[in-house]
Amino acid sequence: MNTAIILAAGSGRRMEADTPKQYIELLGKPMMVYSLEVFQACPQIDDIILVVAEGDEEYVQKEIVDAYHLGKVRKVIAGGKERCDSVWNALQHLTERSAYVLIHDSARPMISEGVIERVLTGAKEHGSAVAGEPLKDTVKLRNSRGFTLDTLTLPRNAVWMVQTPQGFRTDLICEAYRIWKSEGGNTRGITDDAMMWEIYLNRPVKIVEGDYANLKVTTPEDRLLAECLIRYRQENLD
Ligand code: CTP
Ligand code: MG
Repeated sequence: MNTAIILAAGSGRRMEADTPKQYIELLGKPMMVYSLEVFQACPQIDDIILVVAEGDEEYVQKEIVDAYHLGKVRKVIAGGKERCDSVWNALQHLTERSAYVLIHDSARPMISEGVIERVLTGAKEHGSAVAGEPLKDTVKLRNSRGFTLDTLTLPRNAVWMVQTPQGFRTDLICEAYRIWKSEGGNTRGITDDAMMWEIYLNRPVKIVEGDYANLKVTTPEDRLLAECLIRYRQENLD
């Protein structure tokens, strides 16, 4: 069985909107619904654990899960302070029947079935896999005075942006998170699940082909971009 964990427990500080960004509407539909619908429709996904802010569970069950007929959502649970606390909470709800788990940010509404399939296949082959894309820009390291560390410009063909979903053998990612927790559960500097895997299992993660359109809606201009991409996709499917 393959389980998806969809994260929607953030506060969306950088979006500077009145509501947390997972609830803001893109073309008339709450952002979090987009990715939920793609996972719902994906034949390889058996069930979904949806993580929301504490206190939002009932509202989300009624206004999102029931209203949009998301029958694969097995549980709506409360997240934690940081992203890794939210993932930790969700992992506690997995059973042995979930052999593989895909962790996805609801802030990436443009996820497609193709990317989900590639991540899942990669996780089955290598134990873990994340979606990624080569960077289009040149990356520089900047020192505290605002100058480039010119000897350290990273080789562009080796620098990748990683996205979600991130897929794992369930027993192994649970083990990584268990070690993290037992060592104090410090969230500083840990921004994705691949880092947990790398740091606590000391293993590399396979990067499979993601999608430039699978952007993370973070700041107000991303919202406009996401709406353009959704409209474009809708027009080209019809
Ligand atoms: N997330 C979560 N629990 C948290 C923090 C984040 O479930 N405590 C989720 C967000 O809902 C989002 C994803 O993790 O789908 C990626 O996080 P990010 O883009 O940073 O979203 P926010 O934390 O909400 O935004 P910001 O950092 O601007 O406050
Ligand atoms: Mg955040």
